[in-house]
Amino acid sequence: MTEVLIRPMLAADVPVAEQISDLSFHELDQRTTTRSDPVPERRTAEHSARWISRTHRFLEHDPGGCWVAEDESGVVGFATSFVRGEVWCLATYAVLPGLQGQGIGRRLLDSAQSYAADCPAGMLSASSDPRALRRYWRAGFALHPQMLLRGAVDRAALPRGAGIRAGRPDDLAFMDELVAGLRGGGHGPDHPTLAEMARPLVAETATGWGFAYTDGARLTLLAATDEATATALLWECLGDAGDTYLVPHVTAANQWAIDVAMTAGLELAQSGYLGVRGMAPPAPYVHNGALL
Ligand SMILES: CC(C)(COP(=O)(O)OP(=O)(O)OC[C@H]1O[C@@H](n2cnc3c(N)ncnc32)[C@H](O)[C@@H]1OP(=O)(O)O)[C@@H](O)C(=O)NCCC(=O)NCCS
Repeated sequence: MTEVLIRPMLAADVPVAEQISDLSFHELDQRTTTRSDPVPERRTAEHSARWISRTHRFLEHDPGGCWVAEDESGVVGFATSFVRGEVWCLATYAVLPGLQGQGIGRRLLDSAQSYAADCPAGMLSASSDPRALRRYWRAGFALHPQMLLRGAVDRAALPRGAGIRAGRPDDLAFMDELVAGLRGGGHGPDHPTLAEMARPLVAETATGWGFAYTDGARLTLLAATDEATATALLWECLGDAGDTYLVPHVTAANQWAIDVAMTAGLELAQSGYLGVRGMAPPAPYVHNGALL
């Protein structure tokens, strides 16, 4: 193996990091997909463009959390992470398939974690790659199975929630305050990235309040003060869904989400792990894979 240097990520590295991410996650999907999963596909051009713009934002706000591994052939791996309030989040992390399992990932994660030195809490959404899980376990993360629910929505089962409206820019402060209570820090500079993927909904119910980002095909994020409000928000997302809907990243702490999505006719499956350190899995909360 040639010598591998770990150095801070630069803006010029982002396109190659995107290619490494696409290649390594596609290879992982091919390796781990079961017969009931959709056939793995390479990223669309739109998804790649969103990945690139999101990573430029991480670099802008959290340059100390973004690292690459480089050998004589160029960049061969990367890790992007950020700090929001008291929580350090690993956004994404990959090493080129042919070079995995040789210690490059350990060095990348150590560098990204040096940015977490002052953070009492940490969060990441892990793939089911045994190498990734071993790394996270070694880094002190407790691993909680994640579930997903997907399929056609049974419209006859749908109650429509009252008190739900489109989110507005003046909701952002409340959203961040709510999420700070749930995971230690609000999404702050990540709202533009969330808004690129989905539209915000806000619930003000008799019991509390909350918000969700949804694009009609999948739930991007959901946070609420209480389960009744979270339930009303998820019903609203399902009511606006197209032919099928995906609710990813559901932990066992969020049985309310399983109750709603099962009632709506979606199918339950297991998918990766939520890794947490210095905190419990947040609830009522459906996290985002990269923005947690
Ligand atoms: C996760 C990933 C970034 C880690 O990078 P890496 O360079 O492979 O990691 P390392 O070699 O430093 O560490 C891998 C660990 O798994 C072990 N390992 C290696 N091959 C393995 C295998 N086939 N099965 C299980 N464990 C394995 C290694 O021994 C090492 O553990 P150790 O430090 O206790 O000895 C890389 O494997 C990857 O890109 N995977 C695909 C994408 C992915 O899942 N990314 C993480 C998303 S959450």
